[in-house]
Amino acid sequence: MKILAIGDIVGEIGLKKLRELLPKIKDENKIDFIIANGENSAEGMGITEYIFKELLALGVNVITMGNHTWGKKEIFNFISHNQLVRPANYPEGVLGNGYGIYECCGKKIAVINLIGRVDINVLSENPFITVERIIKEIKEYANIIVVDFHAEATAEKLAMAYFLDGKATVLFGTHTHVQTADEKILPKGMGYITDIRNDRTEKFCHRYEYRGIYKTIPNNTS
Ligand SMILES: [Fe+2]
Repeated sequence: MKILAIGDIVGEIGLKKLRELLPKIKDENKIDFIIANGENSAEGMGITEYIFKELLALGVNVITMGNHTWGKKEIFNFISHNQLVRPANYPEGVLGNGYGIYECCGKKIAVINLIGRVDINVLSENPFITVERIIKEIKEYANIIVVDFHAEATAEKLAMAYFLDGKATVLFGTHTHVQTADEKILPKGMGYITDIRNDRTEKFCHRYEYRGIYKTIPNNTS
């Protein structure tokens, strides 16, 4: 089975690329299942119902989210859709699903979305405790467990990777919008990559132009 994971789709430029390339990539590579991070798909901030439906129509099976889950208020119209997965470590009582289980090629694929806590200004529970609880719940019947860890710090992503090695099938990072070249198989067999980027050029650092990020770092004395 082949699973394609697509990092943060940013605004119309990202959607345009997806429309152009996804059918070809899917066909040429015989992709069975597609996961895409959609939290920036509406002008870089959130997702609309129109875009959500368009991504499904393009063949995306599951759309994951992140720190911009609530960027467009209309998400409340479809937040509980079973093909939309928002970070599982939001506090209890928050609407939506933190993971989903999907049938594909006779297997059950679990897709879990988590949000980091380092340098992300989002109120969240401990993602390590949350993911351990979820995996305990699903491990009996999920054949494949995929984790999208939407986080800023490489250290936090790596810590999560070693924590989940042997428990999940693959963990990929999203959020930084920078492609890393550190894909690897960890000692107990889990696949890992720190970030699967998006479609912006290198002058962008994260969603913002590098100047915005650069301004915050030299002045940060904490
Ligand atoms: Fe993000």
